[in-house]
Amino acid sequence: MRLLYRLLLHAIDNHGLRGTILRAIRPPRQSTAAPEPSSPEVHPFDQRHHTDTSGYVPGEALATGTPADLYNTAYYAISPSTLTQAIAALPISPTQYTFVDLGCGKGRALLIAAHQNFRHIAGIELSPTLAASARTNTTTHPNITIQTADAATVLYPPGPLVVFFYHPFLAPLLRKVLTNLTDQSNNRDIYLLSANPGYPKVFARFPMLEQQWTKDFTLSEEDASADRHGILFERYTLWHLPPTA
Ligand SMILES: C[S@@+](CC[C@H](N)C(=O)[O-])C[C@H]1O[C@@H](n2cnc3c(N)ncnc32)[C@H](O)[C@@H]1O
Repeated sequence: MRLLYRLLLHAIDNHGLRGTILRAIRPPRQSTAAPEPSSPEVHPFDQRHHTDTSGYVPGEALATGTPADLYNTAYYAISPSTLTQAIAALPISPTQYTFVDLGCGKGRALLIAAHQNFRHIAGIELSPTLAASARTNTTTHPNITIQTADAATVLYPPGPLVVFFYHPFLAPLLRKVLTNLTDQSNNRDIYLLSANPGYPKVFARFPMLEQQWTKDFTLSEEDASADRHGILFERYTLWHLPPTA
């Protein structure tokens, strides 16, 4: 039953309610889609840094036995070149801010942020297995901490924040995450940076989040050839949650 509910959520996520109903009542067509382009199993980022952040793990394989499992999309790490460009486009000095990755997986985004002079870097990950990998991958970075937790209920570190996420969960969980984040704004400066955000209707429920920009950042040749979907750019959106007086 949980699997059916999960499949239904994924279908609505990908095709909308109308598209899901049409797909359910129409006979399947022969697929004319090209097969996914092949990509190297280990991203050059890992070869250079002696880390293990590559690979794809579907959400079903990341079960923790909690309700949040229903909304987990997958593990797949961000392209280093686009996140580096997105951080450079922030209207702030990173030295004043803590970088938080909601759904940090094996920690690749944390390692990228570690080269951008953030005051502190915190990873939040639902899967204990991935959180353990993130700890191993970041062991030489004393200013990175990893918490095994649900992003919908996590307690944020104090001070100004840049909160990042890369399509970790489906809309129902995103709504809880944004409620939890805005509840903890506590008169401090928060930027929310998302790669491939989606769900405009969820964001519309949080008018206190002021959209700053949406930008497409081009993948480096190295990232493009390692990308399993063969994408050439990643879309990022930045919101600001200003301090309330
Ligand atoms: C697409 S991966 C992104 C990994 C990482 N942020 C990066 O950019 O390299 C999404 C991650 O979010 C995690 N995740 C999903 N739901 C979560 C939740 N409710 N709380 C914390 N982490 C979650 C998944 O287990 C997965 O590791």
